[in-house]
Amino acid sequence: MDLALRGTVAVVTGASKGIGLAITRALVAEGAFVVAGARSPGPELEELVRGGMVEAVSVDLSTADGPGELVAAATARGSLGVVVVNNVGAAHPRLTGFLDVTDEDWITTMNLNLLSAVRTIRAALPTMIAAGKGSIVTTSSVNSFLPDPTVIDYSASKAALTNFSKSLSKEMGPLGIRVNTVSPGPVSTALWLGDDGVAATVARAGGGDPAAVAEGVAKQSVTGRFTRPDEVADLVVFLASERAGNVTGSDFVIDGGLVTTL
Ligand SMILES: NC(=O)c1ccc[n+]([C@@H]2O[C@H](COP(=O)([O-])OP(=O)(O)OC[C@H]3O[C@@H](n4cnc5c(N)ncnc54)[C@H](OP(=O)(O)O)[C@@H]3O)[C@@H](O)[C@H]2O)c1
Repeated sequence: MDLALRGTVAVVTGASKGIGLAITRALVAEGAFVVAGARSPGPELEELVRGGMVEAVSVDLSTADGPGELVAAATARGSLGVVVVNNVGAAHPRLTGFLDVTDEDWITTMNLNLLSAVRTIRAALPTMIAAGKGSIVTTSSVNSFLPDPTVIDYSASKAALTNFSKSLSKEMGPLGIRVNTVSPGPVSTALWLGDDGVAATVARAGGGDPAAVAEGVAKQSVTGRFTRPDEVADLVVFLASERAGNVTGSDFVIDGGLVTTL
């Protein structure tokens, strides 16, 4: 299937690792140019930069100005992406309970998981509206509708992110801009499986083994495994393309059947 993304400039947040890196790769494979934001590019994103179809922007997207700086880098290329992928996010397990989650924890989570998307979209929309077209795809999470006290602030931030995206889709639809979310279950990235990832943090707290924690989580899906980042990327890139031209205001779950309800 030709996604007709050749010549498109896309903005991807949280692009140096994990799902964002896979989305960047997939967009480049479809012929798009990607302006890729993370605090530090890392070797894999740098390799993509050497391929000539990626500009890496070192930026803290949790700050008030960071998202605007990333979008400005795309605008400076002459044409802002009509594709914006809000992917950046982080989860910190709260294993000692809600009462230990401080205001600072909540604000940090909301800045990165919700406001980074709000600010990126705010910066990008004027050009998209002028173009009269575009696609915004945001990485939410199954936790947006599967609230979990061990990631209580993360769950709330993702619920807000999905809700925000749906509201925005209603305003932007008549202007030719589509707004969708994808909601992965556990994905095999550093967020879950890294040295400071969820599995290691949970294992440390319980004196267990990170691999056993991950295996237990994988078994909760009917496929028995984590989703791979490239599988999320394929879904995102389809939604980014005009092949999904009448898809807006929707949330797409990719979780190996973890969520068993309709
Ligand atoms: N993995 C999962 O199981 C899973 C499930 C559902 C949803 N998600 C969502 O998917 C998205 C990506 O997650 P992932 O698993 O790919 O995470 P990841 O492997 O930890 O990668 C996160 C990316 O975001 C960047 N980043 C983090 N903080 C940043 C900041 N303040 N400013 C700029 N960039 C920042 C990181 O680069 P730097 O560290 O260099 O900044 C990295 O490129 C997140 O929104 C997450 O909530 C993940």
